[in-house]
Amino acid sequence: MADPDLTKNFETLTAHWHRVSGGSIQNLFDTESDRFSKYSVRFDELLFDFSKQHIDDEAFAALCGLPEVAGLDQKRDAMLSGSKINTTEGRSVLHTALRATPDQSIYVDGENVVPAVHEVLDRALAFAESIRAGDTTVSGGRITDVVNIGIGGSDLGPKMAVRALAPFVDGPECHFVSNVDGADLSDTVSKLDLSTTLFIIASKSFSTQETMLNARSAFEMVASAVGADKAASHFCAVSTNLEATRKFGIPDERTFGFWDWVGGRFSVWSAIGLPMMIALGPDRFQDFLAGARSADEHFVNAPTAQNIPVLMALLGVWNRNIADRQSQAVLVYDDRMPDFSRWLQQLDMESNGKQVTVDGADVTHKTAPVIFGEPGTNGQHAFYQMLHQGSDIVPCDFLIAANGHEVGLKHHHQILLANCFAQSEALMRGRGLEEADGNVHGVFEGDRPSSTLLYRELNPRQLGQLMALYEHKIFVQGVLWGINSFDQWGVELGKELANSIEPAIAAGDAADIENVATRSLVSAALEMKDS
Ligand code: F6P
Repeated sequence: MADPDLTKNFETLTAHWHRVSGGSIQNLFDTESDRFSKYSVRFDELLFDFSKQHIDDEAFAALCGLPEVAGLDQKRDAMLSGSKINTTEGRSVLHTALRATPDQSIYVDGENVVPAVHEVLDRALAFAESIRAGDTTVSGGRITDVVNIGIGGSDLGPKMAVRALAPFVDGPECHFVSNVDGADLSDTVSKLDLSTTLFIIASKSFSTQETMLNARSAFEMVASAVGADKAASHFCAVSTNLEATRKFGIPDERTFGFWDWVGGRFSVWSAIGLPMMIALGPDRFQDFLAGARSADEHFVNAPTAQNIPVLMALLGVWNRNIADRQSQAVLVYDDRMPDFSRWLQQLDMESNGKQVTVDGADVTHKTAPVIFGEPGTNGQHAFYQMLHQGSDIVPCDFLIAANGHEVGLKHHHQILLANCFAQSEALMRGRGLEEADGNVHGVFEGDRPSSTLLYRELNPRQLGQLMALYEHKIFVQGVLWGINSFDQWGVELGKELANSIEPAIAAGDAADIENVATRSLVSAALEMKDS
């Protein structure tokens, strides 16, 4: 059944859209001299500019009424205080507790979880420090390389962050293996001296097919390189499943736990961030946590019209549900951040790609958009043509630092900034037939909305803040849509089927596969397979 309040509000907003979309965004700028200051928020060293969204004051005021209707404040407080808001799995949702200060108290089942968070954090940071100092060694001596084996939330966050923060990396080199495709492990390991490599097996469940297979294969490779008796010293683990880590042969003192109230895609702040701790060092990891904590405080305290994650969520709803946009581009003007859109894909699409509400009723409105992106300026020469002139309108988030890290190449950064700002202007204002000298192919219709996140520089604190702002955006959208953002039943069916198909491929006989379409494909693959 449709939520009557939401439906009514969407109807009101749709009426606003019919009015607003009759005029152009550029015209709103022409008539409102204060539009930029009115529709931008400054927070810390960050500016969130949403003045190029296709919205006017009346529509914005109506949009800002949605959080109250949805009970956002109560739901936010329920999440932050440890209520079991992930109802389908009976779990609290407390990634914010991972960046709490030691003096805070957050209770799950009557127990304050903050001391345990800091106990594991301190242990993981000390382990990272001793690796960096050369005190923790492996069979070949000092650790030169670290390979994180994990997938999804046990890969995307730390991988993205280690690469994004490369200018701050001064520890052993970190590599990431996620794909069950043997090419991933093989290509990574073939470059390394295994006698000085440490493997982190990162898996919340410690049962994910890809991760466990990669872990076993890596163990065999290390055993054959350094000897079976010495292989175990090359492994450590991050998991909630201590029974399984022990069974794998990793001792408890080299296992870093976390808790079922940390969703995989929200887990980078836990010991899942171990590669970051090793690459960047404890102080920078603490800065990363502090950045996220500042975003948490902003999310709790800022009023709706100044609250960046709430505004991002509301504008997302405006574009998705009212203007009927199917996708959202995330365009980061930072060459070290190609993984940001991949991290965000899991965060957004695994959280909010849902077809039923918390109560199990069919949703009556669209949920998560398709998230995609590529760093600028590369994306400009790939898919921006479609953003400017395609038949679908794709709302965009632009992200850019005012300063680059390359001291001798400041002029490159000026051009990067110019390109970023030029793109959002071009998307908004377009170009008419006259300006295009009568060439219809040169016409840009414009009115393609975007927001820009501009920050002083990309450093650990800033990255933590940005990631936490997006986490909260996604939570708010889940609340507005009435869905559970913290489960992921949609990944199960494919996993189960893969487990049932694999024995047939291994046996070289498709006869037992029930589904005719799959049976035919497996037969074809078996025919082509080299013996
Ligand atoms: O894709 C499903 C999923 O469960 C994600 O939610 C999770 O991040 C990923 O698999 C990896 O899970 P694990 O950390 O348990 O190996």
